[in-house]
Amino acid sequence: MAILSPSLLAADPLNLGKEMKRAEAAGAQWLHVDVMDGCFVPNLSSFTYSTVAAMRKATSLTLDVHLMIEKPIRYVEDFCRAGADYLTIHVEADSRENIRAALEKIRGLGVRPGIVLKPGTPAEAAEEFLPLVDMVLVMTVEPGFGGQKFMASMMPKVTRLRQLLDKVNPSCHVEVDGGVDKGTCRTCMESGADVLVAGSAFFRSEDPEALRILIEG
Ligand code: DX5
Ligand code: ZN
Repeated sequence: MAILSPSLLAADPLNLGKEMKRAEAAGAQWLHVDVMDGCFVPNLSSFTYSTVAAMRKATSLTLDVHLMIEKPIRYVEDFCRAGADYLTIHVEADSRENIRAALEKIRGLGVRPGIVLKPGTPAEAAEEFLPLVDMVLVMTVEPGFGGQKFMASMMPKVTRLRQLLDKVNPSCHVEVDGGVDKGTCRTCMESGADVLVAGSAFFRSEDPEALRILIEG
């Protein structure tokens, strides 16, 4: 069984507070917040650190913030101070030195750091960071947009990362993000993921609790 992290990217942007309550009523323990800069990914999102600060005041759910931005070291402090619980940055978004420094900065501010891999990035690219993080996120779509088709070809990477983590950092989560729904959640869990992000399949469903039960039991 795993943890569901509903992605607010698929929620009604004019009613975010109500949407967060709806997720809570469906039994969600986490909320996933996608931050996009129009550079690292070819899209913008309406979420920034001021949104995270407002969310923090409104909920005690775990705020799982996914930064899809270039050179995230510039903004990690703002997101930590805003109240993120987990702050994940892309391994492709800066030099190795700056990624390491950003992860250490997040940890130093009392927030759980995470590293994210795009579909084309091999597990080994994250290897040196595995001892430093509390979550590794494997993208199962190209980052930037909700509602895309799940890439089952990412499952060996999930398993590989789980195996690498079991040696150096066994309590670290492995998260998947993109195209997760009732049909694809099982293969994610069987492959070793223990946190599953779902946007469309949760917020655009008539029965979001059914997906939550399928994932969390
Ligand atoms: C995509 C985002 C995802 C997105 C997932 O870049 O990182 O979190 O919201 O949406 P679905 O679940 O609809 O694929
Ligand atoms: Zn995401």
